[in-house]
Amino acid sequence: MSELITAAKLALFVTDLDNTLVGDAPALQVLNDWLDRSRQDHDVKIVYATGRSLNSYRMLAASAQLLPPDALVSAVGTEIYLDCENIWPAWQQHISPGWQRSKIVEVATHFADLKLQPVGDQGEFKASYYLSEAAAIEIIPRLRQELKQNNIVAEIVYSGQKDLDIIPKNGNKGSAVQFLRNYWLIDAPSTMVCGDSGNDISLFSYDLEYGVLVGNAHQELKLWYEMNATERHYLASANCSGGIIEGLRYFGFLN
Ligand code: GLC
Ligand code: MG
Repeated sequence: MSELITAAKLALFVTDLDNTLVGDAPALQVLNDWLDRSRQDHDVKIVYATGRSLNSYRMLAASAQLLPPDALVSAVGTEIYLDCENIWPAWQQHISPGWQRSKIVEVATHFADLKLQPVGDQGEFKASYYLSEAAAIEIIPRLRQELKQNNIVAEIVYSGQKDLDIIPKNGNKGSAVQFLRNYWLIDAPSTMVCGDSGNDISLFSYDLEYGVLVGNAHQELKLWYEMNATERHYLASANCSGGIIEGLRYFGFLN
């Protein structure tokens, strides 16, 4: 059993999964104990915000001992599930205006460096590719420009120095969390978000949420931190769940 004790008030805990919540099993167990108690005793809501599809999330959840969340934000923010089963139509309606998936895929064919990810990683509101770090510096600005020339409004998200997702503007993880906060009437300073890679940048960027970057954060997120961090952002020393626990302590959410 954990000896972690709640201090300041946390109402909403949001975390990325791969290499953020998941990656250090003993630390995850300690964190899970605390989260489970916080949910029971203080009604803290737990949200996972992942790049994975629902199916891929289910595979991870089965092997990694994850607590059932109060909501799942999947596919880089483009899908929300309040029950881990049925997609939330309100969110789909919110992000769909102006989305032109087939035109985006057509434009992407002009870039030989963009390699399409498997079908299971594609989504109605998410076109996903692999792109090497070496090529990214040149390709991303060119892709952005070509989308603009074709009057396509979309967001390009580069993660883990290898994955490139094209999603609706404001269809990202951070925007999905704003939508959930409004739905649950939870304010930003009662919210903590955690992440390790490029698709987590939006989590740290919208409002006054507290943000923890785990120690093993990727280059693109550390770079973002160097240029944009405020006193609400904390770069942990420890990796994965160990870094999250460190961040919870740093912000006074636990003793
Ligand atoms: C997950 C998804 C993949 C996406 C990546 C980064 O690995 O499966 O499609 O590109 O996250 O967002
Ligand atoms: Mg991650």
